[in-house]
Amino acid sequence: MKTRITELFGIMHPIIQGGMHYVGFAELAAAVSNAGGLGMITGLTQKTPSDLAKEIARCHQMTNQPFGVNLTFLPTVMAPDYPGYIDAIIDGGISIVETAGRNPQEYLPKLKNAGVKVIHKCTSVRHALKAEKIGCDAVSVDGFECGGHPGEDDIPNMILLPRAADELKIPFVASGGMADARSLVASLSLGADGINMGTRFIATKEAPVHENVKKAIVAASELNTRLIMRPLRNTERVMNNPAVERLLEKEAKLGKNIQFEDIFEEVAGIYPKVMMDGKMDAGAWSCGMVAGLIHDIPSCRELIDRIMSEAEKIIRNRLMGMIS
Ligand SMILES: Cc1cc2nc3c(=O)[nH]c(=O)nc-3n(C[C@H](O)[C@H](O)[C@H](O)COP(=O)(O)O)c2cc1C
Repeated sequence: MKTRITELFGIMHPIIQGGMHYVGFAELAAAVSNAGGLGMITGLTQKTPSDLAKEIARCHQMTNQPFGVNLTFLPTVMAPDYPGYIDAIIDGGISIVETAGRNPQEYLPKLKNAGVKVIHKCTSVRHALKAEKIGCDAVSVDGFECGGHPGEDDIPNMILLPRAADELKIPFVASGGMADARSLVASLSLGADGINMGTRFIATKEAPVHENVKKAIVAASELNTRLIMRPLRNTERVMNNPAVERLLEKEAKLGKNIQFEDIFEEVAGIYPKVMMDGKMDAGAWSCGMVAGLIHDIPSCRELIDRIMSEAEKIIRNRLMGMIS
């Protein structure tokens, strides 16, 4: 399949694996890229720029296909060494970066001068337009369904994607709630040039996370996620568990007065405990509503091949059949 996204990134299929904290290691990025999609290493999971450089080198050993690095700009006072991470990306020969979080404008000239293509993740049309204006090559439009941070507007993809298509000139991928061929064909119909998946790629053979995480996603339904940190305007969609219920009770009790310190126990340092040790109730971890559509743990190649072959069937048989 040829779309503006496959052309822009030089990939076979219009399927991207979004950056995921403590999931997006070289093993997963390489498996997705080897299957014809675009894999993504999560930059900040690597504790220092030199760790990221090593992870990039490891990934180059596992694939000769293009892969990218996610760089998330956090709303923190003590910012990570972003210039150092960007040097590691450029020196590592990476040609695609997925930025997320705050506006990446400050870092764009350096990336663009090095020939790096930038896809910025946005949860609203106004932020997508801003990304286009400052020179991003593409955007990933994350609807309200998404695992991770859906923003504060709560617009689902059925509305957000056609709105983005109406306004944007640069290509965009649909993100949030994407799982299968139906997601891909629907997204293309709504104006996107491909899909970005997070949660679906965690439940794959190559995702280097504890089996408990994969099993929890397969066992969950679309009703099992919760939104946390809304009073802090840092909303995150996570898998429900006793720690999340405790956190939500604190939010209900403390209301607008809640501080980050009040929920520190439920959200700080949780990812290694969940993703590596398989302690599923250690705290809050991002997960999309799309868990309700995930019923197996295929390899990345099986997953991507299945999406592409079934998408062709939907287009040729179901859709063409309706008008012929
Ligand atoms: C466990 C997990 C961790 C994530 N970590 C990040 C991250 O560090 N940076 C980022 O930009 N997005 C992160 N995301 C968001 C994904 O890249 C992607 O946009 C999102 O999962 C899409 O929604 P879906 O889960 O419905 O496919 C994360 C998502 C999950 C499920």
